[in-house]
Amino acid sequence: MNTDNKNLLKVINTTDEGELQALERQYCSFGDTVHYLEPPKFFDRAEGVYLYDRGGTPYLDLQMWYSAANFGYGNQRLQQTLKNQLDKLPQLACQYLHPEKVQLAAAISRLNKSKFGLDGRVQFNVGGSQAVEDSLKIVRNHTGKTLMFAFMGGYHGRTLGATAITSSYRYRRRYGHFSDRAAFVPYPYCFRCPYDKKREDCGLYCVKQFEKNFETEYNSFWDAKAGEPEFSAFYVESIQGTGGYVVPPKEYFPALKKVLDERGILMVDDEIQMGFFRAGKFWAIENFDVAPDIIVFGKALTNGLNPLSGVWAREDLINPQAFPPGSTHSTFSSNTLGTAVGLEAVRMMLETDYETMVNEKGAYFLQQIRALQKKYPKVIGDTDGMGLALRIEVCQADGYTPDRALTDKIFAEGMKGDLDVRGRKMGLVLDVGGYFKNVFTLAPSFTITREEIDLGVELLDLLIRRCAPDRI
Ligand SMILES: Cc1ncc(COP(=O)(O)O)c(C=O)c1O
Repeated sequence: MNTDNKNLLKVINTTDEGELQALERQYCSFGDTVHYLEPPKFFDRAEGVYLYDRGGTPYLDLQMWYSAANFGYGNQRLQQTLKNQLDKLPQLACQYLHPEKVQLAAAISRLNKSKFGLDGRVQFNVGGSQAVEDSLKIVRNHTGKTLMFAFMGGYHGRTLGATAITSSYRYRRRYGHFSDRAAFVPYPYCFRCPYDKKREDCGLYCVKQFEKNFETEYNSFWDAKAGEPEFSAFYVESIQGTGGYVVPPKEYFPALKKVLDERGILMVDDEIQMGFFRAGKFWAIENFDVAPDIIVFGKALTNGLNPLSGVWAREDLINPQAFPPGSTHSTFSSNTLGTAVGLEAVRMMLETDYETMVNEKGAYFLQQIRALQKKYPKVIGDTDGMGLALRIEVCQADGYTPDRALTDKIFAEGMKGDLDVRGRKMGLVLDVGGYFKNVFTLAPSFTITREEIDLGVELLDLLIRRCAPDRI
């Protein structure tokens, strides 16, 4: 080995945290992270509901990789499946078939038939954004139109196409003109109603406002003579993820779907974060009694192991005549490792009553954080949840004005790993979301126990006392 290679091996074999931080500063793009913490934190090990830092301190994780590891870190059944597939068929070009791809597509299609009464097919890909891209192609192919509706506060990913339908201009600003930028519609975020209404007597004013767009051609959305909209699909998250785990009123989506059906506009349901029982049902949209035309999924399908995402579409949108071979492609799209784990995860979801489990645990957790809100009304302005997708909105002493600074402080203190729980040193992993970056979006593992939920609430309580002593 030459001296240069020897020296390079010495550098890359370092385990010293200071040296690793220096290498990260020099060689890692900061483009894919926000460096929420300075310096960013290293973790060493993950098991169940805990991450462990390099000193062995446990951190209770209440975000589970933004809901990608729903079934717990190190889930034995899924990991064993991955290992078995590694030994059997670890690689295969996607032009050839392997059983798990077909079985998984059939499972999702059959499930959707039973849930929505619709025939359909599945197209796989690797990341959520890529599956969103595929869904955009299916929509554009079907309608010949490029314009979409999407929600304010919505998040659909960071590829260019997904960015065009994601509300934050911050994500588009440096990348030129987006001619296919979606028309962004206010989301039913009732705690901060965009129309300043009160849920009790609003009469779904927001849906009425949306419907008004089609009243006359002069509103710019609808050609009354042709009976055609300029827009082809509405991209929805039935519970907003990055937007802050906002739960809409039950009646909202049926009312919206009625308007869309009347105007010939497809509904694309983004289940990437809320799918696979996060919100207490296989698909979150099932909580709202509507049948979407297209569903996009990813994240938890493989519990965060080998990535796999996909799009299910109604048969008339995706059948081989409508969407022929070669309409889209990715080398890793239906990779054998991802499809094997995804199939096993679906088997697990069929065999286990996650609906009851997640809803029971979620109701208990929500009850605890509501008690915390009562205890600290000058810190927590709103709590809500569906299944195990829970939100804590951190506000100023008036209980309404968003308090981003305090949210950041609580997050950062949790990551220090120095909370004293009856003599035991611990940390708390939280995720911050919301329109004002003042919402803790809780997505705990489905394996979390009541004792671990109590522990999570105890850690939150300790953090509030530490970070806002003047407001307790
Ligand atoms: C609702 C939703 N859609 C799309 C995406 C993008 O998925 P990915 O990050 O895998 O590209 C995410 C990721 O957080 C998401 O939450």
